[in-house]
Amino acid sequence: MNARVEKLRQQLEEPLIVTTPANVRYLTGFVSSNVSLVVDSEQVRLFTDFRYAEAARAVPDVEFVQTLRETVTDMAEMLTGTFGFESPHLTYAQYEELRGGGLELVPRAGLVEGLRAIKDDDELEKIRRAAGITDQAYEQLAKERFVGRTERELAWRMNEIFHELGADEPAFETIVAAGPNGAKPHADPGDRVIEAGTTVVIDSGAMLDGYCSDCTRTFATGKLPDELQRAYDVCLEAQLKGVEAAQAGKEAKETDGAARGVIDEAGFGQNFGHGLGHGLGIDVHEAPRLAPTSTDTLVTANVVTIEPGIYLEGTGGIRIEDLVVVKDGAPEVLYSFPKELMTVS
Ligand code: GLY
Ligand code: MN
Repeated sequence: MNARVEKLRQQLEEPLIVTTPANVRYLTGFVSSNVSLVVDSEQVRLFTDFRYAEAARAVPDVEFVQTLRETVTDMAEMLTGTFGFESPHLTYAQYEELRGGGLELVPRAGLVEGLRAIKDDDELEKIRRAAGITDQAYEQLAKERFVGRTERELAWRMNEIFHELGADEPAFETIVAAGPNGAKPHADPGDRVIEAGTTVVIDSGAMLDGYCSDCTRTFATGKLPDELQRAYDVCLEAQLKGVEAAQAGKEAKETDGAARGVIDEAGFGQNFGHGLGHGLGIDVHEAPRLAPTSTDTLVTANVVTIEPGIYLEGTGGIRIEDLVVVKDGAPEVLYSFPKELMTVS
């Protein structure tokens, strides 16, 4: 019996067509760029094409249906009746195709994502290992020279270290943002040469066994201008408050508010324009969402980032990000790499 599928079934009002690849992976372990599931009260049918047939036959507890083309095209011909579908993922063209085949369709959202937000022990173990590699990678990178290298070189080096440490791949494109580029939260590492006396924001994470990690540290390349130093101190205080407030039973917007309050009070409120954090697992960004507008409540075994930032246009940026496992009481922080400002040469 597949416990994840059983939990999903308890929530279904009609059979569900699952087309989100990460949701298929979560429910069955099967990975493909052309796959759909139909989960009903009796069975799970897995639709995919010839390229994935051998792997599909090996998936336990599913009935494999081989398609000729895109799964939805074949399903429109094969299925009849009423089905839920994942409205955030199915394209309008696919919806039309299924409707054209005579299916009645009910939009559903967040069913599998709600299950994915609460990690089981196997997932926690994978995330801890991905986080461990990330932690070690920061340790190694911090021993290297920063000044005189480009952002792009340093980002590439971080990815190399991930590879050397056994990661499958980076979980997302590593961000290295030096000097004024640090004021862009999602800056692309470019040809900017890292100078002395500024900040370097590094946001990266390793992917291992299908699970992500996500960590940001901000380094100083010498004595910082007073405003950046103050922004660092405030950001760190906010980050620590955010971690402390990441507890089961708290509304995610309260956790966000605990960190945001520190930044607001210091007069940097306008310089922190994104949410405090996000859930993470198979995807880098998943439920729950920690932001002023979030309606989520934190529960035990959520895995979330706590990543306040202060972005000073034209000057530089600060972001400090941990990954934590939510518990009753203090969360488990998955990184040990220091958060106190570290000066690199
Ligand atoms: N580390 C990338 C992000 O959280 O958006
Ligand atoms: Mn993040």
